[in-house]
Amino acid sequence: MPPAVQCRNLKKSYPDVVAVDGVDLDVARGICFGLLGPNGAGKTTTVEILEGLTPSDSGSVEILGRAWGGRSDNELRGRIGIQLQESLLPPKLTVREIVRLFRSFYGAGRELDEVIGLVALEDKADARYEKLSGGQKQRLSLATALVGRPELLFLDEPTTGLDPQARLKVWEIVQGFRDGGGTVVLTTHYMEEATQLCDRVAIIDHGKVIAEETPRNLVASIGAEQILEFRTTDDREGDERESDDRSGRLSRLPGVTGATRRDGSYVLSVSNIALALPAVLEQLETSAVEVAELRTHQPTLEDVFVRLTGRGLRDG
Ligand SMILES: Nc1ncnc2c1ncn2[C@@H]1O[C@H](COP(=O)(O)OP(=O)(O)OP(=O)(O)O)[C@@H](O)[C@H]1O
Ligand SMILES: [Mg+2]
Repeated sequence: MPPAVQCRNLKKSYPDVVAVDGVDLDVARGICFGLLGPNGAGKTTTVEILEGLTPSDSGSVEILGRAWGGRSDNELRGRIGIQLQESLLPPKLTVREIVRLFRSFYGAGRELDEVIGLVALEDKADARYEKLSGGQKQRLSLATALVGRPELLFLDEPTTGLDPQARLKVWEIVQGFRDGGGTVVLTTHYMEEATQLCDRVAIIDHGKVIAEETPRNLVASIGAEQILEFRTTDDREGDERESDDRSGRLSRLPGVTGATRRDGSYVLSVSNIALALPAVLEQLETSAVEVAELRTHQPTLEDVFVRLTGRGLRDG
């Protein structure tokens, strides 16, 4: 069976930006695959090319073994479900009417009540779209993507703007779809979402995939048991040379595997905190530097991104 998604060297430029800059992806069937990256990384452009909605400048795409732009396009459309980053649905239509409308686009599909139940909107089936909460709107848009009983589901930022409870509900629906044998490709800039939901994650930045692995292996790749983060009181904005020197010195301390500077903080990957912490404090003391704030945490995908780019996922 061909993979769910395969693309090679995808490129797409707009007049003032290269949005997608040579993306290769292989998504096996039956997994949840995440594209994780900050705002403007090229996630939406990439998925819209995969969905056959945006033409690429170059490169190749195969979805469920087929390329777009041929006689099989209609058949292929019937096998995928799409949730756009922003869906504009008719405000005066009810949940049931909207699901029925989308159901009519497919030759075969789920019963209306089944799909409304799937996204837990039974209570709102007769409510107009304009009266739904953000989380309910998001679930309805998920319903419109699920109504054709797709094999492959594309979700662009499915939980952005939702509160934690609404986010959990969406995660459950996505997991249920995946557990039923479906394949999911989703974009997100929430590292928690990528960690919780995705079997594999491609980290994307400036239109390029800079790492692709299971979340666990990505986190393991930074070789850190702990992340140690601190700010100093002498921090002089823009004194890059000095902070580079200091990062270099810190990274050579015992128990430290790497050091980066970010937003006025030093971020250290630490393999042995018992060795590293006294060494770091001693070095700061020797340079007569005072620590303003210091904390440690278990490494996350956010730390992987910081290590790879020197920036945080939410820096924009
Ligand atoms: N239609 C367009 N015309 C011009 N530039 C565009 C267009 N669509 C996207 N871009 C630019 O391409 C780059 C990638 O945008 P894209 O929407 O793919 O990013 P994203 O990773 O989905 O970001 P976000 O997390 O904010 O949704 C951005 O710099 C964006 O401004
Ligand atoms: Mg986007």
